[in-house]
Amino acid sequence: MNILVIGSGGREHALAWKLAQSSRAGRIFVAPGNAGTATDGTDIENVPIKETNFPELIKFAKENKIGLTVVGPEIPLCAGIVDAFQSEKLRIFGPNKAAAQIEGSKVFCKEILRKGSVPTAAHHAFHTGGEAIQFLDNNRDIPFVVKADGLAAGKGVFVCSDQAEAVDAIERITKNREFGSAGDRIILEERLNGQEVSVLAITDGATILTLQPAQDHKAAYDGDIGPNTGGMGAYSPTPILNDTTLHWIEEHIFVPTIHALNCSEIRFRGVLYAGLMLTKQEPKVLEYNARFGDPECQPLLLRLKTDLLDIFEATIDGTLDRLPLLEWDNRTAVCVVMASKGYPGSYEKGFPVRGLAEAANVPNTKIFHAGTAIREDGTIISNGGRVLSVTGLGDSVSEAKLTAYTAVKCIRWDGAWCRKDISDKALSY
Ligand code: AMP
Ligand code: GLY
Repeated sequence: MNILVIGSGGREHALAWKLAQSSRAGRIFVAPGNAGTATDGTDIENVPIKETNFPELIKFAKENKIGLTVVGPEIPLCAGIVDAFQSEKLRIFGPNKAAAQIEGSKVFCKEILRKGSVPTAAHHAFHTGGEAIQFLDNNRDIPFVVKADGLAAGKGVFVCSDQAEAVDAIERITKNREFGSAGDRIILEERLNGQEVSVLAITDGATILTLQPAQDHKAAYDGDIGPNTGGMGAYSPTPILNDTTLHWIEEHIFVPTIHALNCSEIRFRGVLYAGLMLTKQEPKVLEYNARFGDPECQPLLLRLKTDLLDIFEATIDGTLDRLPLLEWDNRTAVCVVMASKGYPGSYEKGFPVRGLAEAANVPNTKIFHAGTAIREDGTIISNGGRVLSVTGLGDSVSEAKLTAYTAVKCIRWDGAWCRKDISDKALSY
């Protein structure tokens, strides 16, 4: 079966690489892909079509007899790519536009959480900055998190330490319109404390297959300081969640969420990603995403043994209940993101990336590409903020960390940097 993967990050490289291992996979196309998907083997090739160009993607899928399309990023999902493909009778993995709102609108997400009585931070939603500031004035002692309602590439969330910061965040969203229409509505949310964990589940809207837990590292610098990023590294499994808590999360978070969506006549088929805070009382939902996390997807897929094509097809067909239990490599996978100088702010592109072959020779590693491109002379160059996801396996967290960083040390380009403490959160457990 020919497969089309949509997106160009480390997540999409991992998806294409894993799908290529299926005995039923034919040619795998990645639109638009990166240098990693262009060079990973003869089965995988890039197609120069943007992830939001639905008419061209649909035309390509028809002309190349694509039996399954898999969508990586949130932007095409929230813009309705699944509905567009389905109306052309094309098979596609991912939630439709209505279901993807769980990521595309934080107000919608909170409404579903309320309907399902799912634990989450208390919140208030507003249409104008004036109303939000008025509310702050009346609640001076509560520490708030300010959020833009819509998609803002992880940048529309402000964890504020005082009232002045909260007012500034509200003005950036509503007055300066830094996030455009994503700021048409605004949320003030109770600030929670605890460890953060990512728990992803694959669901056809009836059966829920919870994946092994992972931990992301969203802050730019070691020790979780600095600005928020798309994620500077992740590892799985994490000792901060035991099986009992994972079952609790299934029962009290995923099940009532899917139920509340079904009650709203929304059937979610795809990956439901819960960003959770393990508070003193219980795990609470910080956010939902409607897709695999990047970089969480990379360590998860390095450990998943089950055929991913079978999982995706069963999700589309609504037959996940008939799939055998998922099988995992028991080892730990640690993924370190190597980034361009300046990321998550502005950065330069186009620097030759050296040492990739040497890194690939480190046993038990896989180098997934993100922001990379190939020059005409064949040189691989940096082409984004997050450039590589260097992922290693080991019998313990520290061994997996050592493997990943051994490979990282082989790679260099002008301005390359990474966090040095990915997976250290596990060490205190
Ligand atoms: P979100 O995109 O909603 O997950 O928010 C991005 C990041 O902001 C999260 O990963 C948390 O670190 C932080 N955050 C979001 N909501 C809260 C909250 N209610 N309390 C504390 N931190 C939060
Ligand atoms: N790693 C965070 C995200 O994918 O949203």
